[in-house]
Amino acid sequence: MTKPQKILVTGGAGFLGSHLCEKLLQQGYSVLCLDNFFTGSKDNILPFIDHPLFQLIEQDVCQRIDLDIDAIYNLACPASPIHYQYDPVKTIKTNVHGAINMLELAHAKKAIILQASTSEVYGDPHQHPQTETYWGNVNPIGIRSCYDEGKRCAETLFFDFHRQFGLPIKVARIFNTYGPRMHPNDGRVVSNFIVQALKNEAITIYGDGTQTRSFCFVDDLIEGLISLMNTTKELTGPINIGNPNEFTILQLAELVFELTGKKPNLVFHPLPGDDPKQRKPDIALAKSQLGWEPKIQLKEGLKATIDYFDKCLSSSSKG
Ligand SMILES: NC(=O)c1ccc[n+]([C@@H]2O[C@H](COP(=O)([O-])OP(=O)(O)OC[C@H]3O[C@@H](n4cnc5c(N)ncnc54)[C@H](O)[C@@H]3O)[C@@H](O)[C@H]2O)c1
Repeated sequence: MTKPQKILVTGGAGFLGSHLCEKLLQQGYSVLCLDNFFTGSKDNILPFIDHPLFQLIEQDVCQRIDLDIDAIYNLACPASPIHYQYDPVKTIKTNVHGAINMLELAHAKKAIILQASTSEVYGDPHQHPQTETYWGNVNPIGIRSCYDEGKRCAETLFFDFHRQFGLPIKVARIFNTYGPRMHPNDGRVVSNFIVQALKNEAITIYGDGTQTRSFCFVDDLIEGLISLMNTTKELTGPINIGNPNEFTILQLAELVFELTGKKPNLVFHPLPGDDPKQRKPDIALAKSQLGWEPKIQLKEGLKATIDYFDKCLSSSSKG
């Protein structure tokens, strides 16, 4: 496939989106970043905001837009529970109206479009690890449903545009990803633990801490997304992108204490509603179809993330 020249990244000022924009600029693409700054920030795009091939469009993905583009990465959507539950109706609109707008734009411009879907489409899974053929176990009326069902509906829209109009699509099911530029206060487990440890606060464990998660470092994830975008038209996905190495929440806390050099200090709270007990991707498809697998070990990725939060916290305490 010839490389597309002009790429639109919705949600490009967020955690994953800003790393994606940066990587695409390094690869010589012209990048348009569309973001309404709900959870994204100017700080995230500061390292490349003056790049001659970079353009920022401050706009909501729910509004229609006409742009000349060759490819779209659709990432716009708050990803952490505290952010997506802040205005659940808006979260669904972002997922559904946003997806329709971007699909229509891709269709009009004969562009290829990739959806940042999520492991949350599997809900609280009965299958472990989760393969792409598993349909999931999702509560349609719970507090996480605005996100989980919104993302499921977006996947449906992608496949309907593909079947109905022959639109080239790619659907990536992203599993827990962490790294520099995560929000310090987004309530996600990696950022929570690191920030609490660095502030000498007790680390909060929800439940008994035996629930497991797999954590993918952001650089690995971005490489997976770009590899998927660059596959032939026939490969639509959905395809799991994540790190299959599983850790209990207690093991993660221990690692954070070790790497920050802080004394272990834990506080236990009840599990929130619909919290999945296990989450681990089966990445056989990504390995065979993309030749991709994560390379960065949790310890190495955590060190880079701790350095980032350490800098953020010391600059905010000075400012
Ligand atoms: N980080 C993860 O572990 C993870 C896991 C699975 C899926 N994803 C998906 O990847 C994408 C990016 O996640 P992230 O972790 O970078 O989250 P994030 O909250 O850091 O980034 C989301 C970006 O989208 C923007 N945005 C939100 N609503 C918008 C709207 N209506 N119009 C325009 N922009 C809007 C935000 O301002 C932000 O810049 C999301 O779609 C998320 O669902 C992330």
